[in-house]
Amino acid sequence: MGWKVIAKGFDLPTLSPEGVFRLNEPLAPKTTFRIGGHARFYAEPACADDLKAVLEFAQRVSTPVFFLGRGSNLLVIDGEVPFLVIRLSHDVWRKIDDLVDGRLLAGAGVKLHDLCAYAVQRGLAGFEFLDGIPGSLGGALRMNSGAMGNWIFELVESLRFVQLDGCEVILKLEELHYGYRHCAELFNACAVEATLRATGRADSESIRQKVAAFHEHRCAIQPIESSAGCVFKNPTGDSAGRLIDQIGFKGQRVGDAEVSTLHGNFIINRGAATSDDVIELIRRVRRKVWEWSGILLDPEVILLGKEWKDVL
Ligand code: EPU
Repeated sequence: MGWKVIAKGFDLPTLSPEGVFRLNEPLAPKTTFRIGGHARFYAEPACADDLKAVLEFAQRVSTPVFFLGRGSNLLVIDGEVPFLVIRLSHDVWRKIDDLVDGRLLAGAGVKLHDLCAYAVQRGLAGFEFLDGIPGSLGGALRMNSGAMGNWIFELVESLRFVQLDGCEVILKLEELHYGYRHCAELFNACAVEATLRATGRADSESIRQKVAAFHEHRCAIQPIESSAGCVFKNPTGDSAGRLIDQIGFKGQRVGDAEVSTLHGNFIINRGAATSDDVIELIRRVRRKVWEWSGILLDPEVILLGKEWKDVL
């Protein structure tokens, strides 16, 4: 399909020698769920000009864009995803600079685990909860990711992002619109870099101990099998995992998709789960929770290729 479009007269974007542009790129290996089909167009820009060139290409061929981080909060549909998927995986997006005064300047491609390790080494507190989240900074900013009672926007001082028209914007925290598991400015834009401020200073050893305690807690309550993290947002004042547990849905399966027996808000891939299996399981869980409690759970996981409202 992609080749036909090109053959009909669309020019591929011109990228730097290290920039990547491919057609029909398999996406499952780029997600933590290990599920889904292939992207019609796929790019790994290696500089700001590459990013602008691929965004311009998307506009030219009237194709929606999706910014892929580490694929940890994502369910990709089976078959072709009619998108240009852009991933900031080149080293140029993975830099961290110590601004010395308790602040860090970090690229959107930085892994949260690496960001936490960097902060630990420098005695910067407040980054500990990021260690076990298997995402990139860009993805965490888009979702305002959180764990252990903390979330990423508590650390943000300013954010640099590129809009779909290629315009670059820098906003301070007070100018951004964010809340539980969302940031409005990044709904249709690509986070490039953020200035983050530590909540305080402490000796590296005590911060490391806190990271280890979080790690131990997470291992005890969350599954290690392939998943996309929590499937649903928590309803106000309640826990989606607790509700799913109470309706007795742990261990329920559709194909190789299974509600984790450890935590009700996780669906794990037992090996060969398809996107359709997961969607059907989500439908069943949602219906049962609704019948039992009157609460309609809202998915937290991003569905790439379709809209949740069209499949649930
Ligand atoms: N619970 C049950 N049964 C279950 C799961 C949970 O009874 O199967 C109970 C727990 O015992 C606890 C309460 O529900 O009393 C809350 O559970 P938990 O501490 O696991 O937290 P959560 O609200 O389910 C949230 C985030 C997680 C984050 C954890 C830890 C959401 C949707 N989830 O989970 O984030 O890691 O807190 O801080 O906000 C994610 O967003 O992908 C994610 C995993």
